[in-house]
Amino acid sequence: MVSQPPRRIYLDNAATSWPKPPEVVRAVEAYLRENGAPAGRGAYREALEVESLVQTTRSHAARFIGSNHPDSLVFTANGTDSLNQAIHGVLRPGDHVVTTAAEHNSVLRPLEFLRRHRQITFDVVPVDHDGWVDPDAIASAIRPETRLIAVTHASNVTGVVQPVEEIGKIARSRGVLFLVDAAQSIGHLPLDVTRLSVDLLAASAHKGLLGILGLGILYIRPGLDETLLPVRQGGTGTRSDQIEQPRSMPDRYESGNLNVPGIVALNAALSFHESPPVRPSPTLAETLVEGLRKLEPVRVIGWNGNRPHVEVVSVVVKDWQPADAAAVLDAQFGIQVRAGFHCAPLIHAALATESIGGTLRFSFGPFNTEADVHVTLEALKQLVTFST
Ligand SMILES: Cc1ncc(COP(=O)(O)O)c(C=O)c1O
Repeated sequence: MVSQPPRRIYLDNAATSWPKPPEVVRAVEAYLRENGAPAGRGAYREALEVESLVQTTRSHAARFIGSNHPDSLVFTANGTDSLNQAIHGVLRPGDHVVTTAAEHNSVLRPLEFLRRHRQITFDVVPVDHDGWVDPDAIASAIRPETRLIAVTHASNVTGVVQPVEEIGKIARSRGVLFLVDAAQSIGHLPLDVTRLSVDLLAASAHKGLLGILGLGILYIRPGLDETLLPVRQGGTGTRSDQIEQPRSMPDRYESGNLNVPGIVALNAALSFHESPPVRPSPTLAETLVEGLRKLEPVRVIGWNGNRPHVEVVSVVVKDWQPADAAAVLDAQFGIQVRAGFHCAPLIHAALATESIGGTLRFSFGPFNTEADVHVTLEALKQLVTFST
């Protein structure tokens, strides 16, 4: 008799969310079946419909992050693309950047590239054992030549939420631009670019927003487009008789055909967020952490105090390499998680997870249930017994 594979319990929502709301799937399917036209490039009915939907989604997404300016929001390929546009676009030789040890490589690698090839310098402010950064340490790292502070809103390793409002105030008062990487917070936490004094906000559309892979957004504070150089140039469907890149927003940063299926998905996902399922209290991450505290061979990484967190929990299991534990959780229990350094190489020194292959990460989405947490706790209990 062939045994059935275990039911799939997807706990890798920090990588990309799954499943998607049914309305997102339906909207993409309807677009692909019935429309299929590009945005901003034709005058026939379907193309005009798409153009209108792109603008509606732009307004909707801008409002979602607290901006009244639809054109302040540009569509990109993913969170990484947004961060590259922000970082490469704003920095000039001689500039200095303040960033943190909690950053994703999508911030650190563009900075390192520019350090090697464009004479920029940067300082990495350390984080504590929760992965949290002290705003005073950010303030102390600012120099006369500091042009940018780049901080992730929520860590993709520990889930800790950074004090971005305080950091934003520091940046504004010191005349430094503030870039927030909202990849792990958007769709999970309320966002208001004005309240947070944000100049640039980069995010994925396919994680907490519940859109599909292949789309990101970048908020550019109105007026900043004067100095933010576009990293990509090309066809925009506007001013097609000129070889110079249009200066107008959002075309300045949207060269090439837009990911219309992704935008259609985002539009439906944003409507889903208007009446999302009620978030359990305690949250699923909190329930998992509480259960794990009783399981001695499992060390929860961070979550030491009362700081807010998104739905991300990293652990280390005694005598298990994170990658091996992830493979067994998948094969034996159908629990799908991520193991390793999570593209955040510098945070692991503070978490003491550097020499043990990183962490085993559980990340929840709105369609996970308490039952998923209980199955996970049971699975970890068994895993611990395998190891002893
Ligand atoms: C904190 C953080 N920043 C940036 C990114 C990159 O986002 P994307 O996968 O959409 O390029 C991720 C993705 O995991 C992330 O967790």
